[in-house]
Amino acid sequence: MTKLIAPSVLAADFANIQRDIEMLNTSEADWIHIDVMDGVFVPNISFGMPVIKAMKHHAKKTMDVHLMIVDPDRYIETFKSVGADILTVHYEACTHLHRTLQAIKAAGMQAGVALNPHTPISVLEDVIKDIDLVCIMSVNPGFGGQSFIENTYKKVIQLKDLIEKSGASTKIEIDGGVTDKNAHQLVAAGADVLVAGSFVFKAENPIETIKNLKALANS
Ligand code: DX5
Ligand code: ZN
Repeated sequence: MTKLIAPSVLAADFANIQRDIEMLNTSEADWIHIDVMDGVFVPNISFGMPVIKAMKHHAKKTMDVHLMIVDPDRYIETFKSVGADILTVHYEACTHLHRTLQAIKAAGMQAGVALNPHTPISVLEDVIKDIDLVCIMSVNPGFGGQSFIENTYKKVIQLKDLIEKSGASTKIEIDGGVTDKNAHQLVAAGADVLVAGSFVFKAENPIETIKNLKALANS
C-alpha cells in the first residue's frame, strides 16, 4: 500500500493559510494534519474550530485532526461539523477510550489514538481492533520543530506486530521530527503515514519537499 504524507499546518503561515492550504492541494500530500492544543493537556495553545472550518473551505485533502486536549468527548460532533475526516484523541486524555472511539465512528469519522513518547504500545492491546489509526508521538506533543526521539522505531515495530497478530487493519502514523533522515527507516519499521511540519513548511520549496519525502517513504 502507498505510504502517505500528512503535512502539519502547525508550521504553516497562519496569516496566509488559504495560500498554504492551496499549496498542499496541488502537492503530493495525502492528508492535512491539524494540531489542536488546549494549553492544559499540552503547554501550548494552537487554534480551534473556526480556523479548522476556514481551512476546510479550501482543503481538497483528507483532514486529519490531532486533538491534544483534555476530555475530547465534549467536542466530537463539533469537530465533525467543521470538517474533520479523521479524529485522533490521546490515550492519556481518555478515561473511557473504547467509548470515545465508538462516539467518533458514530459521528462519521475515522477514529485515531495518539500515544505520548512514554506510553507503551501494550496499552492498546484490548482496543486495537477498534482503532483506524494509531499516532505514535515521536516528540513530546505541544510544539513543532523538536528533535525526533529514536526509541520510536522500536515502538513502530511493536505496534506493527500487535496489529498483525490481532488481524486489525489499523494504520500507523508517526508525528514529530520527521525528515528525509528518518522517513525511510520509519516506513521500513512499519509506518504508513508520516506527519511533517517544519520539514515541509520551513523548506524553500515545500511542494518539492513533499514530493521527495513521499518518494523516500515509498522507496
Ligand atoms: C506536535 C504536533 C506535531 C507537529 C509536528 O505536538 O502534534 O504534529 O506539528 O511538527 P514537526 O514536524 O515540526 O515536528
Ligand atoms: Zn500532530
